[in-house]
Amino acid sequence: MSEPLVGVVMGSRSDWGVMQHCVETLESLGIAHDARILSAHRTPEALERWLAESEAAGVRVFVAAAGGAAHLAGVVASKTLRPVLAVPMESKLAGLDSLLSMVQMPAGIPVPTLAVGKAGAVNAALAAGQILGLAFPEIAAAVARDREQRAAAVLADPDPRLPAPE
Ligand code: RP5
Repeated sequence: MSEPLVGVVMGSRSDWGVMQHCVETLESLGIAHDARILSAHRTPEALERWLAESEAAGVRVFVAAAGGAAHLAGVVASKTLRPVLAVPMESKLAGLDSLLSMVQMPAGIPVPTLAVGKAGAVNAALAAGQILGLAFPEIAAAVARDREQRAAAVLADPDPRLPAPE
């Protein structure tokens, strides 16, 4: 794969079951990416090193996923001027703690935050594609194709009384 344009970071291996959907969506859009487990509180120095290396390698957008006291995305956002998309993980409080940790950033350090769980993981990849699509026409085209495929899937199965197609 070529140099990564998106850096995906998650606070724990326990986040991977959800965040693999972000990485799969990036792959389906043909977006080169990196993915790491790094924690704002368990590995702060390694996180900082990875961010600097990622920026130097050409990463344009970061996706940060964490659960509970989910300050990872805020810490990442404090160390880069590139967009940081946050994905709250489901947690002991059903992800509400993670969500509030991410969306309640003080004015000045934006952390655009997606839905809790799998929908947020997929949408983070699509949002990264929309941002990158402003500079890379092939990524804009991939995002448009994804949107068309999702519409076609709904229209191919319009009658809820019939069994879903295979
Ligand atoms: C956060 O704490 C991680 O992002 C994860 O969502 C949560 C629990 O981590 P583990 O205890 O499963 O490693 O830092």
